Amino acid sequence: MSDTEPPIRLAVVVGSVRDGRFGPVVAAWFAARARRRPAFAVDVVDLAETGLDAGFAARLEVADAVVVVTPEYNHSYPGPLKTAIDAAGGAWRGKPVGFVAYGGLSGGLRAVEHLRCVLAELHAVGLRDTVSFHGAAGAFDVSGEPREAGADAAATVLLDALASWSQRLQAVRP
Ligand SMILES: Cc1cc2nc3c(=O)[nH]c(=O)nc-3n(C[C@H](O)[C@H](O)[C@H](O)COP(=O)(O)O)c2cc1C
Repeated sequence: MSDTEPPIRLAVVVGSVRDGRFGPVVAAWFAARARRRPAFAVDVVDLAETGLDAGFAARLEVADAVVVVTPEYNHSYPGPLKTAIDAAGGAWRGKPVGFVAYGGLSGGLRAVEHLRCVLAELHAVGLRDTVSFHGAAGAFDVSGEPREAGADAAATVLLDALASWSQRLQAVRP
């Protein structure tokens, strides 16, 4: 990114809303990594705060790129996240979407595969590079940092892909 280019507006969506959820820990870690890079202006969009319809859609509308932080529930992603995705409709068009997934044994990867199908229908572009944590609650220390050494590198790969695809897709965003 040159000094004159505006930052990429990156929405980091917290996809779980249940009481006692772990999602905000994962989202805060990823958002902090993104904020270290001047190329990104990061907006953490928590479905538990925005609601699942117009409030969420308005925040998504102004984003250039999106990261969905999703757990896996019964081999898919949370129902409220589907409601919010549907409500935002055209706001997804032409946006690269990265995934930071977490769960039990699966690391959230089955949730990600389901999200890819849905987002393709909305003309969003799901990125291949994915960050995944299995055994999520045990995968972070008390300060909210991942215990696994490779997590930061995976976040860097995803952020690089988001920056690249955000630029390439500019022409097809409304
Ligand atoms: C209703 C429910 C279903 C779950 N199903 C799965 C599953 O199919 N595969 C898996 O790996 N983990 C599963 N888990 C574990 C969650 O992915 C894990 O607890 C995660 O931290 C939940 O995210 P949250 O705390 O942000 O809601 C399930 C958890 C819940 C509450």
